[in-house]
Amino acid sequence: MLFPPSAADTTCAQALPAAALPPSLRTELLARARSGTVSGYLYDPQIAADRARTLRAALPPWASLFFAVKANGFPAVLSALAGPAGLDGFEVASRAEVDLARTALLSAGRPPRLLAAGPAKTTGLLGALLDAGTEVVHVESPLELARLSALADERGSTVRVGLRVNPAAVGVRGTLAMAGRPAPFGIPEADVPEAVALARSLPGLDVVGFHVHAVCGNRDAGAHAAYIRWCLEWAARTARECGVDLRWIDVGGGLGVAYGGQSPLDVELLGDELHRLSPPAGVEVALEPGRWLVADCGWYAAEVVDVKRSYGTTYVLVRGGIGGFALPGTEDFPFPLTVLPVEDWPAGLPRPEAHRTAVTVAGELCTSEDVLVRDVVVDRVRAGDLVVVPQAGAYGWEFALQSFLGHPPATRDVVAHPHPLPRSVPSAPAPAPALEVVP
Ligand SMILES: Cc1ncc(COP(=O)(O)O)c(C=O)c1O
Repeated sequence: MLFPPSAADTTCAQALPAAALPPSLRTELLARARSGTVSGYLYDPQIAADRARTLRAALPPWASLFFAVKANGFPAVLSALAGPAGLDGFEVASRAEVDLARTALLSAGRPPRLLAAGPAKTTGLLGALLDAGTEVVHVESPLELARLSALADERGSTVRVGLRVNPAAVGVRGTLAMAGRPAPFGIPEADVPEAVALARSLPGLDVVGFHVHAVCGNRDAGAHAAYIRWCLEWAARTARECGVDLRWIDVGGGLGVAYGGQSPLDVELLGDELHRLSPPAGVEVALEPGRWLVADCGWYAAEVVDVKRSYGTTYVLVRGGIGGFALPGTEDFPFPLTVLPVEDWPAGLPRPEAHRTAVTVAGELCTSEDVLVRDVVVDRVRAGDLVVVPQAGAYGWEFALQSFLGHPPATRDVVAHPHPLPRSVPSAPAPAPALEVVP
């Protein structure tokens, strides 16, 4: 039987008090519960825009800021980010993301600056990226270079290419190291000189620089700045050695979110450290975070359909689960959640409940992996209440198993009454995984 990584943690986290939710959100969720089944997301797009403004203000002028649409593709969130939030553009990985990103940027009266990355780009997708005027296509293999060249040649155009690199010894390790080991992403470092030579021999390609996305979930500002410094130095050295006229370095995303009271990333410190760096003249350095910009702008709420015990475990079964929100099950800490009491309940129907006990919040899919959080201690939870997960704005709806079993997909809406930014969320479920800078 397969369990999600969060199952490995045997300590019980405490559910947040319902008062941790903004009052207007509670009111809205309760109104929704009265008028039908709740299973979906509420977003406050202004929180995402505020995050973007904060990060932009901290970054040095040589850095540009792109949002990785895969983290949240809800149009209202993209519109807020495309507005006067300080973003330079969007990073996309599919035709659908191209359309979402272009619509948001063009409707905000902005030039549609797009970057693209992702493994297994088909000829169709590469063509769509060219048609959309993608500013830099991050290429991940020799065949992809050849496909892109053929397409650009057919169109009589030249496409700016960044080689996505999987470095042999990555400068930083975080919760999800995506480099320095076998991966479908990027070109292994040792193969970069050959890939540059191939790209330069092909028509229609202008190799402008490199892309590295080597870490996710990093809350150590000093280490992240060291990682970026390492990317800049590596790119400058490799460009020199391979004869690339370096104009572009994309250092990926990977800024970590403080879930449930973990220590937050110190954005001011990150900015201060980056101000000490000086990239080569004429080089644009792009950051393309996803999670950090949008995690706090979303809440996932799911109605409790049943509460029952099985061989000593109390299950809280919700209308949703990983079919609506799969991220918590993939993390190695228990996601923070709260129970919002709903008083309405049909007369005559038994109402099972659990009191001051550890529960496992599971979904409606026929797989034992459908667990939102295991062993979270709740004061009280009843069938008909709502389980609400804050900080659900990143990799939520986009990352869920929406189609398995065919239940209705999670809904997505904007909060009716925007509220102030959430304060730091109480409870500290588990220590942050160590992040290590490799000399
Ligand atoms: C190429 C690329 N850029 C940026 C991101 C965003 O990463 P994060 O959400 O950790 O900031 C991802 C996430 O998978 C990615 O694959």
